[in-house]
Amino acid sequence: MTFDTPISRAGSHCAKWDMLESLYGLNPDQGLAMWVADMEFRPPQVVQSALESMLAHGVYGYFGDDRAYLEAIRWWMATRHGWTVQPDWIFTTHGLVNGTGLCVHSFTQPGDAVILMTPVYHAFARVIKAAGREVLECPLTLQDGTARLDIATWETLLTGREKMLILCSPHNPGGRVWTVDELRQIADFCRRHDLILISDEIHHDLVFPGQKHTVMANAAPEISDRLVMMTATTKTFNIAGAHIGNVIIADPALRKTFSNTINALGISPNSFGMHMATAAYSPEGAAWVDDLMRYLDGNRTLFDQGIAGIPGLRSTPLEATYLAWVDFSGTGMTADEFIDRVQKVAGIATNYGASFGTGGESFLRFNIACPRAQVAEAVDRLQRAFADLQ
Ligand SMILES: Cc1ncc(COP(=O)(O)O)c(C=O)c1O
Repeated sequence: MTFDTPISRAGSHCAKWDMLESLYGLNPDQGLAMWVADMEFRPPQVVQSALESMLAHGVYGYFGDDRAYLEAIRWWMATRHGWTVQPDWIFTTHGLVNGTGLCVHSFTQPGDAVILMTPVYHAFARVIKAAGREVLECPLTLQDGTARLDIATWETLLTGREKMLILCSPHNPGGRVWTVDELRQIADFCRRHDLILISDEIHHDLVFPGQKHTVMANAAPEISDRLVMMTATTKTFNIAGAHIGNVIIADPALRKTFSNTINALGISPNSFGMHMATAAYSPEGAAWVDDLMRYLDGNRTLFDQGIAGIPGLRSTPLEATYLAWVDFSGTGMTADEFIDRVQKVAGIATNYGASFGTGGESFLRFNIACPRAQVAEAVDRLQRAFADLQ
C-alpha cells in the first residue's frame, strides 16, 4: 500500500465521514471530509500485525505487565526526541483529551483559571469549562501569517486566578514548531506566575523535514517541578480510535497528585491501545513516520500552491501537523459567507476557526492527511468556488 491508495471509510463508524451528513449536510459520496484530525491512511504493518496476533489469540481480558510498553516509550523518546524518560514517570490515559481533563482535576480547583494560547485545539476549552474552571485566553499574534508569542500583553490579562497553562507544541492549529527560545519564554512566564505547565506534544512526531521540535522537558529542565508532558502514538500512527496516551511527570509531588486522580477515577489501560502503541514505537514505526512526513510535505506544497492562486486566501506555512490553517480575511467576506462557499459550493467539511478561540474567526482548518488526489480535488473545488475573486 502507498499513501496514494484511497480507502473508503464511509460506513465504518468513523466520525470524520459517518457524521458528514448530520453535521455538515454533505453526502459522503460527494463531500470531502477534511475536518477531524485523523488520517486517511492505515498504520504501519507492524501495528496491524500486533492487532492480528491479538485476533489470532482471541481472548480479550485485562491488560497487565506494561514493561514492554514503557520500554518502547523510553526508546522512542530517547531516539526520536533526545529525551530521557524514566518508566515510573509514565501514566497511561485514555487519550490526551482524557489526559487534559485528569490534569485539570489534579492541579486546579473549581473557579481557578487555565491559560490557553489562542487560537488553539478546541477540546482544551471544552474540558476546562466542563470542569467548572475558567479559560483565560492569551492570544497569539501573527507576523507574516506566522503565530508568535505576545507575553507582554499576556502579563496585562492575568487576574491572579490562573493556576495552569496548557501549551500545544507543536501548535494546533497553524502547525508552529516553537523555538527553544519561545519555549523558554513560556516556561519562564509559568515560573514567574506560579503556573503548572501542561505541554501537549501529541503532534511532536509530525514535523516537516528541515524543522526541529524540542520537547519542553529538554528546553526548560529547570521547571521540571511544575511541568507535565503529554505524548501519544495516536496522531503519529493514525490510531486515535485506540484512545491511548501518556502523561509523563518527572516531579514526585506532582506525580503523587496525578496518581491519586487516576486511582480515584479507576483509569486502567486499554489492552488494544497498549499492544498497538508498543508495536508502533519501533524502528519499523519510525521508518513509516519518515515516509509519511515526506508524503505530507508533498500534500502541503500542492495545497499551499493551490490556495496561493485564490486572491484573498492565505495558507499558514505549516512547520508541523497535517492541519492546514487558511485565512479568509483577505476576501472581505463574513465567516458565514466563506463557510457557505467552502461547505455548500465546494462541498468540503472543515473545522471552523472560531471554535479554536480568539484569533481563529477568519480561518478554516483543512486536514490534508489524505491521498494526494483528494488534496488536488479540494484545491480544484476551492478555486472554482472562489473563481469570481480572480
Ligand atoms: C493538541 C491535541 N491534543 C489532543 C488531541 C486529541 O487527543 P486524543 O485523541 O488522544 O484524546 C488532539 C486531536 O486533534 C490535539 O490536536
